[in-house]
Amino acid sequence: MPFPIKTVRATYPALADGYAYLDGAAGTQTPHSVIDAISTAYRTGIGNSGGAFPASHRSDAIVAACRAAVADLVGGHPDGVVLGPNMTTLTYRLARAIAGPGDEVVVSRLDHDANVRPWTQTGATVRWAEVDPVTGELPVEQYESLIGERTKVVAVTAASNILGTRPDVPAIAELAHRAGALTYVDGVHATPHGPVDMRELGADFYTTSAYKWSGPHIGAVVADPALLETIRPDKLTPSPDTVPERFETGTAAFADLDGVTAAVDHLASMVPGTGSRRERLLASMTAAEEHELALFQVLIEGLETMPHVTVYGKPARRTATAYFTVAGHTPRQVAKRLARLGVNVWNGHNYAWELTGALGIRESGGAVRASLVHYNDRSDVDRLLEGVARME
Ligand SMILES: Cc1ncc(COP(=O)(O)O)c(C=O)c1O
Repeated sequence: MPFPIKTVRATYPALADGYAYLDGAAGTQTPHSVIDAISTAYRTGIGNSGGAFPASHRSDAIVAACRAAVADLVGGHPDGVVLGPNMTTLTYRLARAIAGPGDEVVVSRLDHDANVRPWTQTGATVRWAEVDPVTGELPVEQYESLIGERTKVVAVTAASNILGTRPDVPAIAELAHRAGALTYVDGVHATPHGPVDMRELGADFYTTSAYKWSGPHIGAVVADPALLETIRPDKLTPSPDTVPERFETGTAAFADLDGVTAAVDHLASMVPGTGSRRERLLASMTAAEEHELALFQVLIEGLETMPHVTVYGKPARRTATAYFTVAGHTPRQVAKRLARLGVNVWNGHNYAWELTGALGIRESGGAVRASLVHYNDRSDVDRLLEGVARME
């Protein structure tokens, strides 16, 4: 089914400012339904959790609905959805509770630093999976020698936030599971770009951040509730000791959580469909991915044919994310010039600290990232290409 791009774009009020929002990998815009859900929650009256009065019941219902929505999005169990302010905070919390001195953890140079440092700082022995700097691939074979009987966790991304590389996570997970290790899969960049099934990926933990897929600034880590039962994070004495609540410190952002549910409903309804929300999500996100990749073909071919442009990485499976430099201009200068033409792109390392180091461009300011999401259209891509072409 063709992706109804005009209808989808009309649901995002911010797009009316005329900018080409090619900065989606750093955070997406939000549709009316999400904005309305958050303001309705505040207008209706919400209380803290667990009280005896209706406003408190509303907050409890919002939390339950949010867990169900995130579970539908990633193919997880609602009781295994841990909610929090962002992926980084949740990953620090989980890493401290899972690994420590005497354990081994395997991290990768493809990953965003949020799935690296929380593990390397646990005190566990660290083993590094290397990236091919030319292709941007994360070769699976190396994991055979990296994973051993002391490996506690293999932390790996489902997609690189700068090169878009989608590594073979199921194969890496199989090696981890064979050795009795857990997989902690960073789905922050991958989730907005296609259908997700954390079980197919072999993810014991799967992370995602709603602000990358049209929702508010909320993060989630999803795991099997039975696995969460075996982990004891730091927590306050009187706070709930149940799963998943014991992983959630402090008071939740209840209104935002209602926005998360609205964002999942939005993703499920981008293309007309029937069936359960999970089924509609799979269909809608498949159509979105096809739309993004078709546009990306135009974008990447356009960039690769420009002699003054260097494009980094050429992974076989990827999201619609391009990372490039322009001869004679720093990445910041490129981003500034594009901004004057109404094009939003990021410049720098984008927290892909190890990867930009492996590419040899971290100290020189990284590169420019143009990242497509489902609401981008051909005119966004054309405007970027025209702007870059003029910088020759
Ligand atoms: C791939 C990836 N992982 C993790 C993060 C960190 O997510 P959060 O901002 O929710 O902590 C980001 C943020 O850009 C990301 O792109």
